[in-house]
Amino acid sequence: MQKLLLLCALLPLSWTKPNASLINQINSQQSAWTAGINPFDDIESRLGFLGIHPDPNFKPEIKEPQATQNVIPETFDAREYWPECADIIGNIRNQGKCSSSWAFAAAEVMSDRLCIATNGKVKIQLSPEDLIDCCHYCGNQCKGGYTYYAWNYFMLTGLVSGGDYNTSTGCQPYSELNYYRITPPCNTTCQNDKYPIPYVSDKHFGDSIYYIPQNETAIQNEILSGGGPVVAAFDVYGDFKIYRDGVYIYTSGALFGRTAVKIIGWGTENGWAYWLAANSWGKDWGALGGFFKIRRGTNECGFEESIIAGQVREGGSTSPTPVTFTATVTPPTTPGSGVRVAGCGIGLVLSMMLFYLLKF
Ligand SMILES: *[C@@H]1O[C@H](CO)[C@@H](O)[C@H](O)[C@H]1NC(C)=O
Ligand SMILES: *[C@@H]1O[C@H](CO)[C@@H](O)[C@H](O)[C@H]1NC(C)=O
Ligand SMILES: *[C@@H]1O[C@H](CO)[C@@H](O)[C@H](O)[C@H]1NC(C)=O
Ligand SMILES: *[C@@H]1O[C@H](CO)[C@@H](O)[C@H](O)[C@H]1NC(C)=O
Repeated sequence: MQKLLLLCALLPLSWTKPNASLINQINSQQSAWTAGINPFDDIESRLGFLGIHPDPNFKPEIKEPQATQNVIPETFDAREYWPECADIIGNIRNQGKCSSSWAFAAAEVMSDRLCIATNGKVKIQLSPEDLIDCCHYCGNQCKGGYTYYAWNYFMLTGLVSGGDYNTSTGCQPYSELNYYRITPPCNTTCQNDKYPIPYVSDKHFGDSIYYIPQNETAIQNEILSGGGPVVAAFDVYGDFKIYRDGVYIYTSGALFGRTAVKIIGWGTENGWAYWLAANSWGKDWGALGGFFKIRRGTNECGFEESIIAGQVREGGSTSPTPVTFTATVTPPTTPGSGVRVAGCGIGLVLSMMLFYLLKF
């Protein structure tokens, strides 16, 4: 306990720039995950999840995924289960300094599910840029957005293809890594002039959207039998800045905001059950090539409560039944405002809050 109090007292003073002693403190305090230096510190400009929907009273359709597998495997990796789509599923993207994780996580899951539904025949990266620039009801572009609306745009308007920054892959490759809070105008032509298909002909569509109940088994069934990876989101605290590998469990630091990611599998490591998730902060972030593991089954940092997925129109799905919305978009929440403790480690948060109260 003395150690914890000491840690709490030191953290706020040293938090602006993680240093070796802080990393050592986290590494000696627990053994589930390892802290270390990452290529960047400014994670607050790389988040971007405002919620699945702006209306707090919104009741999404809940789907109880049907299990087509008798047994849920102990360990699962979508890249191995669908090897024909391994490079799409395993592609770590980079949103840069644009709070557009809502668009990245959604477009990644759409791409994976399109590939899986067509048995690898339609193997393209869908364009987060198309969502960020052109879906005005999806939220606030490079200042955050709603994952449910991103999927709604996929159903109503469709998404063109678009690879990573500095590639000439697809109709609208990502155009910039430094769009901090600025978004380029919507352009409904292919920005890649080498791409042969016109923008309007390059659209791919979603067929349904639904919310997955906060239930570990339901999430596993949806990934395994419901079409592939799913869109998740969670609260990002200061210690996530220095995540390198292992199973992330909140230890310390203030809330920065929320970010959306995609879940591609699960497993157990040193006794900790985890989700395997793809972040969109580039391959150099963390020590797992841009992936990370987070505790499974305990709604760690809200990880299991904002999960959505849907079906794609190609690949034998039923006739499209688009959902229409009268979108009212609320202003973005300031990163760091509103402390949501549920689901995350609690003791330290409380002592941190006490510390701040006493200090100011
Ligand atoms: C590193 O962090 C410790 C507290 O964890 C602090 O006392 C020390 O001044 C920091 N050093 C630097 C160089 O920031
Ligand atoms: C992108 O390409 C340009 C021109 O080739 C180069 O100057 C720049 O460093 C590249 N950026 C990244 C992030 O690779
Ligand atoms: C859209 O992009 C095309 C091709 O890059 C360009 O010629 C055109 O001016 C752009 N339009 C707008 C409205 O930005
Ligand atoms: C989670 O879902 C499974 C079926 O998908 C069900 O059997 C189980 O009771 C659910 N657990 C909880 C805690 O709701």
